[in-house]
Amino acid sequence: MGTVTQLLAAIADTGRDRRRGGYSRAAYTSADRELREWFTAEAAARGLAVETDANGILWAWWDLYDGGTRRPESSRRGALVTGSHLDSVPGGGAFDGPLGVASALAAVDRLRAREVSGALVRNRALAVAVFPEEEGSRFGVACLGSRLLAGAIDPARALNLRDADGNTFADVSRAHGLDPDRMGLDETALGRVGDFVELHVEQGRALGSPEFAGHGEHPGPAVAVGSSVLGHGRWRLTVTGQGNHAGTTLMEDRADPMVAAAQIVLAVRKLAAAVPGARATVGRLEPVPGGTNVIASRVDLWLDVRHPEDATVADLVERLHGQAQKIAAFEGCAARLLEESSSGTVHFDAALARSLEHSVRRTVPGAPALATGAGHDAGVLASVVPTGMLFVRNPTGISHSPEEHVEDGDAEAGVDALADALEDLL
Ligand code: GLV
Ligand code: MN
Ligand code: MN
Ligand code: MN
Repeated sequence: MGTVTQLLAAIADTGRDRRRGGYSRAAYTSADRELREWFTAEAAARGLAVETDANGILWAWWDLYDGGTRRPESSRRGALVTGSHLDSVPGGGAFDGPLGVASALAAVDRLRAREVSGALVRNRALAVAVFPEEEGSRFGVACLGSRLLAGAIDPARALNLRDADGNTFADVSRAHGLDPDRMGLDETALGRVGDFVELHVEQGRALGSPEFAGHGEHPGPAVAVGSSVLGHGRWRLTVTGQGNHAGTTLMEDRADPMVAAAQIVLAVRKLAAAVPGARATVGRLEPVPGGTNVIASRVDLWLDVRHPEDATVADLVERLHGQAQKIAAFEGCAARLLEESSSGTVHFDAALARSLEHSVRRTVPGAPALATGAGHDAGVLASVVPTGMLFVRNPTGISHSPEEHVEDGDAEAGVDALADALEDLL
């Protein structure tokens, strides 16, 4: 029923961001709603039964039926689930998330054809899942849907999260037909999941690097099997000063939080660069109220810190906080740090990873195991069900940017690999 490229072409205009370039598909916006409707229609066209659970996760079920009755095997082992997310960062690429969803639909087509021809006998149900607010672009906490499902965030805290316009997650989800009182750890939904496999565009340049890239007739593996997700977290640093008039306030009379924020950004780079393996980013900074002729009264900076050792992340953040307080005090301001979310390093299920490697290497010889620096719903679900990932080569090595890319042939190689991996697990 179409290649991944054809599936993605159908949503190529949804959520385009003319100002930033790329796509801005924040969770529960009209773009996101359109994408969820697209997914529902594609799943229904494949005869899958689509449900939205209490946490806003879409599940498209390819159940096992025997004369209209669900076969007991489907409940005994739990279903095999694949999928990803459809929301994006502001100005993101076309593949981060949607590639995994489109590939899952295309893999269902491959598997159904095999079942019809008698080449595949399934022993359990298969579902395609779509997780909301994976990027945390709207409410600040990444993987909000999977965290709620897995009980990894207190629903009361989640419901009080606010977007940039001040809307609470409770109000926004209610407006989308969800019941805030039912959100949180969902043992029933989790109980149906036996294993979860997420296919994702690679977000670095490993598969395109000289280590793996071949040459001429041998282009190197287009698909890798995930081994781990780097520990990471987000913090909001608020620097407060004295809002004032740009023309009447002498330079020596100012307590300008923007001047402190600029120095804090430099300190973040300096401190993180001194810790091997650490990554620290200030990707978002908001002066309040934000006017050209206004000395800001407050600046909010969002800090993203990652490292394989959880203790190193904690230590680095503590030192950054100390440094920020010193800088702020020197400028006559104050700095306060608030944790928004944090996740330790996750190693995927070893037996599932071995099974994925074995399956994928049939069509992608030499498919390597790859650790990722990006966060994923698979990283959250790994704490509650056996979970694994596949990565598809991104020749630009760039992600969270419109320059993210996947060649059509590599996308199809990803579907082949996913279909084979799922077949072996069914
Ligand atoms: C999401 O893609 C993240 O890694 O932050
Ligand atoms: Mn993603
Ligand atoms: Mn992303
Ligand atoms: Mn992500």
